[in-house]
Parts: sequence; C-alpha cells; structure tokens
Amino acid sequence: MSFYNDRVLPRLLNLAMRDKGLEAYRCRLVPAAEGRVLEVGIGSGLNLPFYGPGVTEVVGLDPSAPLRRMAGEQAARSGMGIRVLEGSAEAIPLEDAGFDTVLTTWTLCSIPDAGAGLAEIRRVLKPAGHLLFVEHGSAPDAGVARWQDRLTPLWKPIAGGCHLNRPIEAMIRRAGFELADLRVGYMAGPRPFTFMYEGRASKG
Ligand SMILES: C[S@@+](CC[C@H](N)C(=O)[O-])C[C@H]1O[C@@H](n2cnc3c(N)ncnc32)[C@H](O)[C@@H]1O
Repeated sequence: MSFYNDRVLPRLLNLAMRDKGLEAYRCRLVPAAEGRVLEVGIGSGLNLPFYGPGVTEVVGLDPSAPLRRMAGEQAARSGMGIRVLEGSAEAIPLEDAGFDTVLTTWTLCSIPDAGAGLAEIRRVLKPAGHLLFVEHGSAPDAGVARWQDRLTPLWKPIAGGCHLNRPIEAMIRRAGFELADLRVGYMAGPRPFTFMYEGRASKG
C-alpha cells in the first residue's frame, strides 16, 4: 500500500463517485435489488440510500479498508444495519447460493481478474438470483475504443486499477450469465470514460 492508494485515492473515489450523472444510474438500478443482497466493491456506500423495502439484508465486500470505513459511516447515516466484509471478488468469503441479488456499480473495471470475480458472483447467487450492474467499459465506436486502449495503461495506476476498455457485456455472458435487460450508451462527459452498460443478468 502506498500513501496515494491508502490515503488519497479512497477520498478521490468517494468524491468522484458522488457525481450527479452517476446518481441517476444508481437511482434506476439499486431499487430493483431484493432479498439478501451482496454488493461487490461497495466502495464508500453510495448505493445504500437507494435500496428499497424489498431488501432484507445488505452485505458489502471491498478490499479497501478506508472505503469500507466510509461505507460503515454511510450505513449509519442511512439508518441501515449492513455487514461490510474485507475481501476480493475473485475469492468471495461467503457461502454458495446464499444471495437473491448481487449488485456491482463501476467495479468490474477494477477487479484484477474480473472473469474469476464474475464466476464467484455466480457461485454466491441463488439459482433464481440476479446480478444487477452498471459499469463503464469498451465503446462501440472504433475511434473511442482506440483511445480507451491508449489511455488505460496511463489511467490504471492512478485510478485504482480501473480499465477503460473492458467488454462488459461479453465478460458477463462468458461467465455463464443470461442477460435479461441491457441498456448501453454514453453519459455526459469524455467518451473514453463514459460508455455505460446497465442491466440485469440471471444465472442462466
Ligand atoms: C470506482 S469504485 C466504485 C465504488 C462503488 N461501487 C460505487 O458505485 O461508488 C471501484 C470499487 O471497486 C473496488 N474493488 C477494486 N478491486 C476489487 C476487487 N478485487 N474485488 C472487489 N472490489 C474491488 C474498489 O475498492 C472500489 O470500491
């Protein structure tokens, strides 16, 4: 852990992820969660105010201690009793088939082995469970995609391992999920950073 990753980056992420444009996605996606929910890469807990009454429990998972602390503070502010665990998506320290919903928001970009992370997400979902996601990733326009490839090696070290060019839809399908809903498109902002994949996937 460096001073930057330990002290600076968590604060920057917390500020950047409060963007109003991102909030519109949270507002659409998170209320669809139901039952026992696992949030992988919970970060500073910015989805917590958007969970609806159909949620019986929220468990958060994140490798970053400062972000887990902020998620605990956000939970207290939201009046929610949640459990926040230390861990990585590639080795989720939880039982098989225990969750109705797994939620990820702008996290698949940063998981070093996202394929292994998705396999773990599939393992912890109940047979009828769903993955709800909003993620940024590779753009369909060749010019933008070229910039995503060029920028990723420069961006990744300063942005917590974030890849701009991951093919989110293909990765989710490759992990064995079936996509029940998918919306894609740019949000406002520089195009290499803003092509979004938003949807719901079942275990298939
Ligand atoms: C851009 S932040 C998004 C945080 C939060 N989901 C949100 O919407 O505000 C990416 C998050 O992924 C987490 N992350 C990075 N590597 C991870 C891994 N291997 N497993 C789980 N989470 C990871 C980071 O610690 C961080 O909280």
